[in-house]
Amino acid sequence: MKIAVIKETMPDERRVALVPESCKKLIAAGISVTLQRGAGADAGFPDQQYVDVGVTLADDAAAALRDADLLAKVQPPTPAEAEMLREGSLLLTSLIPSRNMELVKKLVQRRATSFSTELIPRITRAQAMDTLSSMSNIAGYKAVLIAANELPRYFPMLMTAAGTVLPAKVFVIGAGVAGLQAIATAKRLGAQIEATDTRPAVKTEIESLGAKFVGVDTTESAQDAGGYAKELSADFYKKQAELIGERCAVADVVITTALIGGVKAPRLITGDMVQRMKPGSVIVDLAAPGGGNCELTEPGKTVVKHGVTICAPLNLPSEVPYHGSTLWSRNLTTFVMTFWKDKQFQLDLNDDILKGATLTHDGKVLHAQTRDALAAGG
Ligand code: NAI
Repeated sequence: MKIAVIKETMPDERRVALVPESCKKLIAAGISVTLQRGAGADAGFPDQQYVDVGVTLADDAAAALRDADLLAKVQPPTPAEAEMLREGSLLLTSLIPSRNMELVKKLVQRRATSFSTELIPRITRAQAMDTLSSMSNIAGYKAVLIAANELPRYFPMLMTAAGTVLPAKVFVIGAGVAGLQAIATAKRLGAQIEATDTRPAVKTEIESLGAKFVGVDTTESAQDAGGYAKELSADFYKKQAELIGERCAVADVVITTALIGGVKAPRLITGDMVQRMKPGSVIVDLAAPGGGNCELTEPGKTVVKHGVTICAPLNLPSEVPYHGSTLWSRNLTTFVMTFWKDKQFQLDLNDDILKGATLTHDGKVLHAQTRDALAAGG
């Protein structure tokens, strides 16, 4: 099998799908890897590091893809890149089908077998392939650094000759992977942290990181069978809005990461709540790719509203490209190696992981939700 890695072409994407340490593993297993020259440069991996582990270099994407059996990427391929896929070949990347229907049609047309990383089920056996967790971890960390940079105050408590400075108050909404990493990072910087989530199961995790849990008392079940948050009653959201408004009003920094069912960003911070926040305070809305948790968020921008700075970054993992690529690459490599047996990629569509992750195969859409959306004219 030959794997191709090409340079990411989306503006501001600095990651690369495979890093040299992973290529070395794949090559040792009998897989060959071809890299488009310069594909790893922005992430801190010069061509020579790839050559040293046995990777072949190609001058451009078309040359890298010639005879390739699998294309490994970070972002969904452009139409031109999809066109270059050899008929029947494999594609492993983030495809987010709900936002890329035209691409799905193209992959069907190319008869590509495409695996979408965010569709890999979040089960124990697939933990080491979980790109969502790897990238959310980076986002949670980076969100705190952005907030610290924007905030006109210190994060830690300081006792100086000029007197004592009180620590910044950070409020984290949504304590999934990104939220818990945000708590841990803010704690390391010395902030005083409160956090909330609709899933009571995370209370102990929040507390174990040294933050205070604040929440709405409820008997409603907040978690679905897959462990994701689910929609709650209007009554719950009304009570939660009161709590969020109150906690935002006393916070210096709000980091918001709430997500329902792994896809939908609920609106939790209204314009009115922002108006009641302290001047100079900062909101970092990590849910911006899904529209945002804050009503005043403008995805992709940093804006100042009512004296509050609202940051809505869309691709934080790309801002930590060395480790963003390393973790992504390890996740992809685990995926490939799990199904690499007898010198072949074993496409067993009855396997839970492959069943969940395969978006298109043999000219058909296998992912039921995407198939339904396409049938409905999506
Ligand atoms: P996750 O699914 O692990 O966590 C989301 C959390 O939100 C869950 O714990 C859930 O219970 C909680 N939640 C849902 N509704 C809530 C509500 N009403 N109030 C409080 N909590 C609520 O998701 P993960 O992986 O931590 O991702 C978090 C966010 O970060 C997502 O929106 C994701 O798209 C985003 N992200 C953003 C990046 C960026 O560059 N902006 C990069 C990576 C992830």
